[in-house]
Formats: sequence, C-alpha cells, structure tokens
Amino acid sequence: MSAAPTEAMIEAGRLLFARPFAFVKGCVDLAGLPPADRTEIAFAGRSNVGKSSLINALTGVSGLARTSNTPGRTQELNIFESQSAALRIVDMPGYGFAQAPEAKVKAWTQLIRKYLTGRQNLRRVYVLVDARHGPKENDLEIMSQLDRTAVSYQIVMTKSDKLLAKDLDAVIAATKAAIAKRPAAHPDLIVTSSEKGSGLDLLRAEIAALIEA
Ligand code: GTP
Ligand code: MG
Repeated sequence: MSAAPTEAMIEAGRLLFARPFAFVKGCVDLAGLPPADRTEIAFAGRSNVGKSSLINALTGVSGLARTSNTPGRTQELNIFESQSAALRIVDMPGYGFAQAPEAKVKAWTQLIRKYLTGRQNLRRVYVLVDARHGPKENDLEIMSQLDRTAVSYQIVMTKSDKLLAKDLDAVIAATKAAIAKRPAAHPDLIVTSSEKGSGLDLLRAEIAALIEA
C-alpha cells in the first residue's frame, strides 16, 4: 500500500479493529501455536518499545496485552484473535533486555527467531522502533534475519509524542535511509503514538489491506 491510503482503506481498517479482539493463549514454543489457518501479523521490537501498548491502542481494548514500565513484561508469544475477523495478532517478547537472566534471554531470543523465520502464515512483521532513538544494532539484526528469510516487515516508530517534530523528522530520515536497500522492508514507515492515538488509523489500514490482498 502507498504512503497515503485512501479513505476507503482507512475505513476498512477502522471496521476491522472495531471487532472485539480477545486474548487466546500464550505460547512458549512453536508447538503451542494455533494452526496456521489465517493471516498472522506480529509485533516485534526491543523490550519496552511499546509493542503491547500498540496492540491495546489498535484494538481499543486497554489491558488486552499486558504492558509495564519495566522491560521484559511480555515473555511468551501472546495470541489475540477476533472470532469475526480472519486475523491473528501476535505480541512478542522484546529483545535487547540486558538485565534479564541469561537463560531467559536465550529462551526468548530462540523463540523470537524460530517464530519470525519459520511461521508459514506470518504475513507481516511490524518491527517497532522507538522514535527517540531510531533502529539499534539488534533491530538491524532482526531485519537482516527477515531479509534473509524473505518475511515482509514494516517499521513502526513508537512514542512519537515524546519528541519534537523537528527531531522526529531527523529520526524518520535516518531510519528510511537504514531500510532503503533492505529487500523485505516496506519502504514506508508508520509513525505512531499509542498515548495520543496518532498513526493508528494508517496502521489499521495497512493491516486491513494485508487481509484483503
Ligand atoms: P516488553 O513486553 O517488555 O518487551 O515491552 P513492550 O514493547 O510490550 O512495551 P509496553 O507496551 O509494555 O510499554 C512500555 C512502556 O512504554 C510503558 O510504560 C508504556 O506506557 C510506555 N509507552 C508505550 N507506548 C507509548 C507511547 O506511545 N507514548 C508514551 N509516552 N509511552 C508509551
Ligand atoms: Mg510487551
């Protein structure tokens, strides 16, 4: 989809997320996942970047995905579905949380890698990047992994309410440059704030377009 979705696409996104989404289960390994029977999207990113908050903001259900000030809140692949929509949303543990026990970091890293590179119905990964910082080394590693396995991904900037417009413009430009030559990256970024609700209509429209395509 192009950078400027039509009103019809925005409306399709609104309708998709007006449906009730509910928590289905948390999975600690791929064997625990539901059957690969519908379009799946996943939210990946560093610990504390705002993955769970974004899922709550998109669905309009506060507390659907558990959030926290402390990194390392989400520890499993948490599955959300709406009975009436052909969409499954996966909230992932974050990466790059150095303070977590080594064994946990290892388990999360393996789970993330296996899921992101081995799930047949995974239609798109939203790689969340903090708008204050732009992509870090471990974001670039995840992107390279997705490029290698040809899994489509799009960068979503989070917490855009935390910085000034001019600073935001600079991070957007740097991030676009960082993804320009990456084969599996969507060329457009989506800039969001779960706090203020900005960018959510565009993200909903992108997701609706994935299902319809
Ligand atoms: P892990 O599950 O630990 O990997 O973290 P996460 O990526 O799911 O982050 P989470 O949604 O739990 O949010 C982390 C913190 O960032 C919480 O304190 C949120 O309130 C805050 N936060 C998330 N999104 C935004 C946003 O758009 N703006 C602001 N100001 N704060 C946000
Ligand atoms: Mg989380």
